[in-house]
Amino acid sequence: MLIDRCLCLGVTFRQLKEQADRTAHTRLEDLQVVMPFGTGCGLCKPYVREMLRTGVTEFDRIITDSGDA
Ligand code: FES
Repeated sequence: MLIDRCLCLGVTFRQLKEQADRTAHTRLEDLQVVMPFGTGCGLCKPYVREMLRTGVTEFDRIITDSGDA
């Protein structure tokens, strides 16, 4: 199963990447100002950081704030 979105708020990482590309936001905190994500359980945040770093929008592995699990 691919992980491709903030499940709590239903926003896909692809949508977040498109918004980040449009606005040139490179930090999660800046992107949160213009898109609703990450304010529920917060488990999507490490994925969004990885997305901002690499451009990848679908993940087949668990990523936590302390690194890959
Ligand atoms: S999955 Fe994004 S806040 Fe819960």
